[in-house]
Amino acid sequence: MIKDTYNRTHNYLRISLTDVCNLRCFYCMPDEDYDFTPEARLMQVDEIETIAETFVRLGVDKIRLTGGEPLARKDVGDIVKRLSKFPITLTMTTNATLLHRYIDILKEAGIRSLNISLDTLKPEKFLWMTRRKQFRAALDNINLAINSGFHVKINAVVMKGLNDNEILDFIKWTKDKPVHVRFIEFMPFSGNKWTSNQVFTWKEMLEVIETEYQPERLKESPHDVAKKYRVPGHQGTFAVISTMSAPFCSGCNRMRLTADGKMKNCLFSKGETDLLSALRRGEDLELLIRKNILQKARGLGGQLGKDFKKLDGKDIENRSMISIGG
Ligand code: GTP
Ligand code: 5AD
Ligand code: SF4
Repeated sequence: MIKDTYNRTHNYLRISLTDVCNLRCFYCMPDEDYDFTPEARLMQVDEIETIAETFVRLGVDKIRLTGGEPLARKDVGDIVKRLSKFPITLTMTTNATLLHRYIDILKEAGIRSLNISLDTLKPEKFLWMTRRKQFRAALDNINLAINSGFHVKINAVVMKGLNDNEILDFIKWTKDKPVHVRFIEFMPFSGNKWTSNQVFTWKEMLEVIETEYQPERLKESPHDVAKKYRVPGHQGTFAVISTMSAPFCSGCNRMRLTADGKMKNCLFSKGETDLLSALRRGEDLELLIRKNILQKARGLGGQLGKDFKKLDGKDIENRSMISIGG
């Protein structure tokens, strides 16, 4: 088991497969001339397998593949197959635009649930936010995933004045479809031009929803990042991820591996451990992983316990979201 100094057990690993993405969401990717990590510095398939195996030996029982866009990596099918032999829940966060190419492989590998990023239900706004004309592909593949039996969660980052006016449309979507929408508070990362007044808090989200619906709170599992709700009679559910206004770090069980093989013990941690270089030098990964986790802070959600309203996005020193993987 991997435990930190606050006695939190870490059994969930998020592995970013690549920082390449076929969309250009401004809140995730700094600007058009972002330098993607060169191939040679990415973890190769064997290396991903070996590093993942070490984590599994230490008690990891859930691995989420992230990106950039994980399905933009050409050998993703091979990676998924290799990881599927471990005794874990294997899952993925994707923008879904390339999902039709891989859905059978994902199913055969035992993946049962997918988290899909979609911030708007309007094609023109999607084009503006992602700078790519892929709305139809995303929506068609969301339907494909649902119809193929996957449990589908939709991640919608809510930004004030941008898509907060679509919250009720998303809720309406849950009426006749088994989709599980999660509204996420906008978080600051390097280069994403975050300002506190763009954060639409979960309380504000609920206020909007309660103008039309009477949602009931659902039970959460201990490590959930989301507060869950259901509108009575709706097939799907909704949830809020309140990182900025109400952080949930006390139940944290997460570790992250960037596509270039650096371990991060928190979404907002600055310190990283270069597991890939260590592996290439033949060093003991187990020791490095344990050492990294012992340095984990009690909680950086909402950024060091400060009132997020007092934060300046320019002061945030972290990677950009596209190179962390969420
Ligand atoms: P589940 O396994 O379905 O609960 O998914 P997840 O929430 O772990 O993963 P996903 O990739 O769908 O992330 C959804 C949102 O939650 C993204 O905005 C992430 O950045 C955010 N998130 C995921 N893990 C953490 C975390 O440990 N801390 C914080 N603060 N936010 C997180
Ligand atoms: N704030 C909140 N969530 C974000 N994501 C990407 N960037 C941000 C941000 N700045 C979400 C994406 C994706 C998940 C992995 O992280 O919507 O679904
Ligand atoms: Fe865990 Fe860091 Fe997220 Fe808090 S902010 S829940 S400590 S990863």
